[in-house]
Amino acid sequence: MTGHSHDNIDWDEHLQRLRDGDELNAPEIAELVAKLLRPTDRNVIEIGAGAGGTAAAFAAELADSGGALTVVDTAPQLLAAAEARVKQVSDRVEVHAVQADAADDSLAEAIAKAGAPAQADVVFAAFVVHHLPDQLAGVRRLANLVRPGGRLAIVEFGLETKVLPPDVGLAEPGLEARLTAARQDWFRQMRAEMTGTVRMPMGWGKALSEAGLADVRSWSYLVDRPAPVSGVALQAVLRRLQFLRRDAENRVGPADLAALDELLDESGEHYAGTRDDVYYLTANTVHLGTRPAS
Ligand SMILES: C[S@@+](CC[C@H](N)C(=O)[O-])C[C@H]1O[C@@H](n2cnc3c(N)ncnc32)[C@H](O)[C@@H]1O
Repeated sequence: MTGHSHDNIDWDEHLQRLRDGDELNAPEIAELVAKLLRPTDRNVIEIGAGAGGTAAAFAAELADSGGALTVVDTAPQLLAAAEARVKQVSDRVEVHAVQADAADDSLAEAIAKAGAPAQADVVFAAFVVHHLPDQLAGVRRLANLVRPGGRLAIVEFGLETKVLPPDVGLAEPGLEARLTAARQDWFRQMRAEMTGTVRMPMGWGKALSEAGLADVRSWSYLVDRPAPVSGVALQAVLRRLQFLRRDAENRVGPADLAALDELLDESGEHYAGTRDDVYYLTANTVHLGTRPAS
């Protein structure tokens, strides 16, 4: 069984970051899951479940009725963490953890072989399809895991995350916009370097329609933690700046790199962790489609 993804990212190394993200996003995720699950839904498959925060929210929502929840991931430690997280929530929800590759046509077979229901009322995938070499084929594969009448929900980036004021007092104003452009270039390169990469020249909603889903609609939700931030929101700000630092190397000028280093220097006077004007604001978009009943 494969233990790696296609994007040259060791996802197991991201466990703590994903756990922190789950904590930060918990209120919005709980709201989204409550909105997605219909009263008769009993069976959910989550692809690329990360640290298991969303799966746990599904399990909490299914706890009264009972049901089955299948988490699928290529990263073994993340999969184990997600399984453990979900099992803490309710013993009325049957949990299946399947190490499988969403880019592989044997995905459905791997799920069935693990003894999990082969199709679900809801198939959910957040921020994972863009890590597959052929995203449209991935959407089709996920749509095939939906039972007739059931729904596929994909969450992808809505707007780029913002954490800095327009002028941080270092380098030229507009630092974050330049860093964000560098990150978008990193993303382009990440996709371009995947073996077998295929462009998807259409929006996510259209991709769901192309995959045979009906009643496709999209909406966005904000994760809004205004300044001043502390605790998990401040940690998210610092992680975002660390991400931007990694992606900025060789992509922005020396003055911008130096400014970012100052913002990340815990002992310096400009450390973002002690500023009272940083904030965390992002918009995620949900794309939902229904598999026709026949
Ligand atoms: C950006 S994380 C998102 C995690 C979680 N959905 C969330 O929103 O926090 C991407 C997740 O997809 C998983 N993943 C990446 N490539 C995959 C693949 N080809 N098949 C299955 N899972 C994959 C990673 O291991 C990780 O759990």
